[in-house]
Amino acid sequence: MSKSRNLINITDLTVEEIDKLIATADDIVANHADYEDICRHKKLATLFFEPSTRTRLSFEAAMLELGGSVLGFSSASSSSAAKGESVSDTIMTVGNYVDIIAMRHPKEGAPIVAAKRAEVPIINAGDGGHFHPTQTLTDLLTIKRKKGRLNDLTIGLCGDLKFGRTVHSLIEAMLRYEGIKFVLISPEELQVPEYVKEKMNSVGAEWYETESLEDAMPELDILYMTRIQRERFFNEEDYVRLKDSYILDLEKLENAKEDLTIMHPLPRVNEISVEVDDDPRACYFFQALCGKHIRMALILFLLGIEK
Ligand code: NCD
Repeated sequence: MSKSRNLINITDLTVEEIDKLIATADDIVANHADYEDICRHKKLATLFFEPSTRTRLSFEAAMLELGGSVLGFSSASSSSAAKGESVSDTIMTVGNYVDIIAMRHPKEGAPIVAAKRAEVPIINAGDGGHFHPTQTLTDLLTIKRKKGRLNDLTIGLCGDLKFGRTVHSLIEAMLRYEGIKFVLISPEELQVPEYVKEKMNSVGAEWYETESLEDAMPELDILYMTRIQRERFFNEEDYVRLKDSYILDLEKLENAKEDLTIMHPLPRVNEISVEVDDDPRACYFFQALCGKHIRMALILFLLGIEK
């Protein structure tokens, strides 16, 4: 059994711990110099068996900004997974070299297997269509910075709610705050999985499903757009048919609130027209910056390092 704290699912952290991470992320921005050397001689491994730009690079930038070092691989093909090595053996090996591991894997549950064997903290940087807790921490920090609160919000989640792991983790996280209403906007085939609906119902959450982004728009405080997850489809025809289900443009924003916060975990393909980027409500690149700040806070927390 692992001896360290891990982050596999967002609910591995209490609401108080998330508050603390958000406070640390803000302190990192306010007092950057205090953190520049705080992880000296510490090493982070980023083991990415699936593609990534923001998650991997923001983890690496986070550790470098804390004065630590990074090593790892960015595709299964450049690791011994290509020779048939198990996740467990890779983790047991890399655990000898580093102090903390962030891993992304196409198989749901792979980080749980890793956490069982590893002596060092394991961070789930995305497991298949399942969970993505560090994206959720990123999203919570973005919402807190933009709205000043994490309660009393109507959140529209739009796109691929079936395979989108960022959506599943964000819903789970937001279920712990008061006054949250979810508007789930997707084609029928891409609705959130049953287990997510059961979780929402078990805590009496307010939610409804719709196929119409236009109808939902006026009531939203937050619009969380997502990419159709091509790599998780069983056949290409279904992807081609569904890929352009939602394209957010300035016309669709005409009925939106003045202070709507538009988010997207990125990468975007077609789902937000580039003309929206200059709208002051577009927050997705700011969100990517928040990802670095909260990952800095998370690394410190899991390594047990305080300022
Ligand atoms: C997301 C992911 O990998 O799940 N990207 C990210 O980590 N920012 C979203 C996606 O790939 O669509």
